[in-house]
Amino acid sequence: MFAKRTNWNLETNRLSAALAAHRQAGKPLIDLTVSNPTECGFQYDETAILNALRNPAALNYEPNPRGLAATRAAVAQYYAARGAVVSNEDTFLTTSTSEAYSYVFRTLCDPDDEILVPEPSYPLFEFLADIQDVRLVRYPLVYDYGWQIDFHTLEKAITTRTRGVIVVHPNNPTGHFCKPEEMRKLSEICAARKVAIIADEVFLDFVLKGKQASTFAANSRALTFTLSGLSKICGLPQMKAAWLIVSGPEGLKSEALSRLEVIADTYLSMSAPIQLAIPAFLERRYAFQKQVIERVRENLAELDMQLAAQKSCSRLEVEGGWNAVIRVPATRTDEEFALELLATKGVSVHPGHFYDFPSEGHAVVSLITPGSEFSRGLRQLFLQL
Ligand SMILES: Cc1ncc(COP(=O)(O)O)c(C=O)c1O
Repeated sequence: MFAKRTNWNLETNRLSAALAAHRQAGKPLIDLTVSNPTECGFQYDETAILNALRNPAALNYEPNPRGLAATRAAVAQYYAARGAVVSNEDTFLTTSTSEAYSYVFRTLCDPDDEILVPEPSYPLFEFLADIQDVRLVRYPLVYDYGWQIDFHTLEKAITTRTRGVIVVHPNNPTGHFCKPEEMRKLSEICAARKVAIIADEVFLDFVLKGKQASTFAANSRALTFTLSGLSKICGLPQMKAAWLIVSGPEGLKSEALSRLEVIADTYLSMSAPIQLAIPAFLERRYAFQKQVIERVRENLAELDMQLAAQKSCSRLEVEGGWNAVIRVPATRTDEEFALELLATKGVSVHPGHFYDFPSEGHAVVSLITPGSEFSRGLRQLFLQL
């Protein structure tokens, strides 16, 4: 009775099962994988957030496939603050970046068409692609004192079925930004091979060193879909508010816009109270981001201090985002490492394979973990080695 596309193997993996059993048994747990900002002890202006949700204008229904114009204007202002010009007409509001991905996949791909995704990266894409009947093809990121795109392999991976290249900027969990030279080269390749760029910028504001990174949102060199939203920018994943911006050569852009308009008009998925609240949420992003960046810097400093006191591990460069990748001895699989750490020390980390690291020897920790927990968890991790 069911579609092949939903014929997933939903058995829990060994680590999730061990974690559930650990919790069930009521054993103490130091969780170094926390990614929900609402549970990390950050201060939110609760009154302002709740007041923004009780706008009387929410009593009217104003359907618009792109979302309310005033809200899109606030999104345009977000980009204007980074020096990028984004038009209201090129913006669609969505309930999540995941929904934005699905709109883009639906706009670009027939069943079994291909989308290139970075490796390592965030594991979200697998299910999104399955649901939209899209095939994911990986292109490698290589690490050499910092991460970069392996353009040679990326180009070779493009076939007549390739419709888009996803770039996560900065990438999760590697925390590296796509450099201006890489943006230029990627645009050149995509324009020449008639493939779109799909840029996921949910962590764009979380820069640890140096100046703001530039956005893909105004990229006119190739057809580009730029995705972002409030989950990370404002630390409000529960509000379900995100967006999708289309840019590129005029003909391609208007074709994409008119197709997207039909998809968005079919769902009209944004609720009025949230759309009306987005401008107020965005205004408050600086206060949230300041706390996150401070936390991430402090945790990185703590990690470096503890790394300096031992010899078997090191960490990879982090330029932004919320995670750090620790190189651990590859004497067992990363899953076995994580299982043992949980069993013996009650500490939870993500094994590298969760993010498709191509080799063993990586553990990923969340840099937004509350400081004292982060420090205790790391101490236990290094004790185990
Ligand atoms: C790179 C990346 N993109 C998208 C998302 C999901 O964002 P949203 O809540 O808007 O679907 C995440 C969540 O962790 C992420 O890491």
